[in-house]
Amino acid sequence: MTTPWTQRYAQRTQRMGSSMIRELLKMTEQPDLISFAGGLPAPELFPVAEFEAAAQRVLKQHGSKALQYSTTEGYLPLREFIVEKMSHYGIQATPENVLITSGSQQALDLIGKLLINSGDLILTENPTYLGALQAWRAYQAEFTAVPIDDNGIQVDLLEEALCGGPKFMYILPNFQNPGGVTLSYDRRQALVALADRYGVPIIEDDPYGELRFEGNHLPPLVVLDAEKLNDDARAAGNGHNGDEAGFFRGNVIYLSTFSKTLAPGLRLGWMVAPKSVIKRCVQAKQGMDLHTSSFVQMVAHETIKGDFLPRHVRRIRQVYKERRDVMIGTMLRQFPPGIIWTWPEGGLFLWVTLPEWLDAAAILPKAIEKKVAFVPGAAFYPDGTGHNHFRLNFSNAQPDQIEEGIKRLGRVLAQELEKTAELAYA
Ligand SMILES: Cc1ncc(COP(=O)(O)O)c(C=O)c1O
Repeated sequence: MTTPWTQRYAQRTQRMGSSMIRELLKMTEQPDLISFAGGLPAPELFPVAEFEAAAQRVLKQHGSKALQYSTTEGYLPLREFIVEKMSHYGIQATPENVLITSGSQQALDLIGKLLINSGDLILTENPTYLGALQAWRAYQAEFTAVPIDDNGIQVDLLEEALCGGPKFMYILPNFQNPGGVTLSYDRRQALVALADRYGVPIIEDDPYGELRFEGNHLPPLVVLDAEKLNDDARAAGNGHNGDEAGFFRGNVIYLSTFSKTLAPGLRLGWMVAPKSVIKRCVQAKQGMDLHTSSFVQMVAHETIKGDFLPRHVRRIRQVYKERRDVMIGTMLRQFPPGIIWTWPEGGLFLWVTLPEWLDAAAILPKAIEKKVAFVPGAAFYPDGTGHNHFRLNFSNAQPDQIEEGIKRLGRVLAQELEKTAELAYA
């Protein structure tokens, strides 16, 4: 007998869908097509030789440990490395606050598993990272979305959404995916204060923070939250309360990853949270994959220990900045009037806004015909709007390809605008 599998699927799978971006990436694998669609880092920057040498050292010196089952929390020297690295950004954690995850995508799923009951409301930016929506839809979350502008989520519109009683807020403070925008300092402070006032925790997802090309680094929400709690406690005459010295007893869970600074194929990310939350996530992760690959953690640690990572990240910043400049420079010359875009100070993406009457999804097949691809914006909007936006990735293609791809795209957009202008006058 053949099992009718679809009748056996759990109810929660009804809202699961494959990511449009992943489906699209399949279509863009044709030769000659210049794709600005994926969120792919530049492959020529992957430290292949360093990994090869590190893998050999790990296998030679600790081979049986690297190939054995290991603890769910993650490889301690790697967690210690992360703690030290984060301290440069003001985050005061201990290894017990850190859980190594199989990419930060797994951390998002863990958060879903841990926090979301069917029908729970999650507050996101509008637009937001599609992978988070995908992960949390599987737990039957509902979304309330607050618009972003050039300075990130519009905090003045937040209170109304907070009144709806969301379980948590999901915020991408640096070079947001897909918008490319950064949450300003003032808004960070206002956001943290509102989270505290309404008792709504924040999931701070920060895969791109280290890839800042210009301007000043801004403090993570987790740092501002800890400062606020300490100030409040001091004002109340309480000093620090308990074991976590102001950090990680507050309102923020912080996520980051080595996907954009080393290589996404490692599937190596981390979560920073209060110890009690880490403990629960460890239990949840055990049901998923027992632990993140011991071998990969050890090789990654062997590669980055010492001063390799900061040097490597400096190089990535240089290359991506040049590519962003080539992309924006070419857009300025080649895109027809009436189209605007964000000007990211770091990260991998910029965000294009077409005139209201154009639909980016309808333009995409025409762009693919001309051998250039982007990601239409609607999928990033939990509220179903966003038809006249699309996302461009500038990290993956070489500068000459960026120039050529943007020229092709400029021609497609000019034709679309001409066509709609003709219709308007017809
Ligand atoms: C905002 C955001 N969060 C999480 C992820 C997932 O990253 P990882 O490769 O660490 O799973 C991405 C990847 O593009 C992302 O943009």
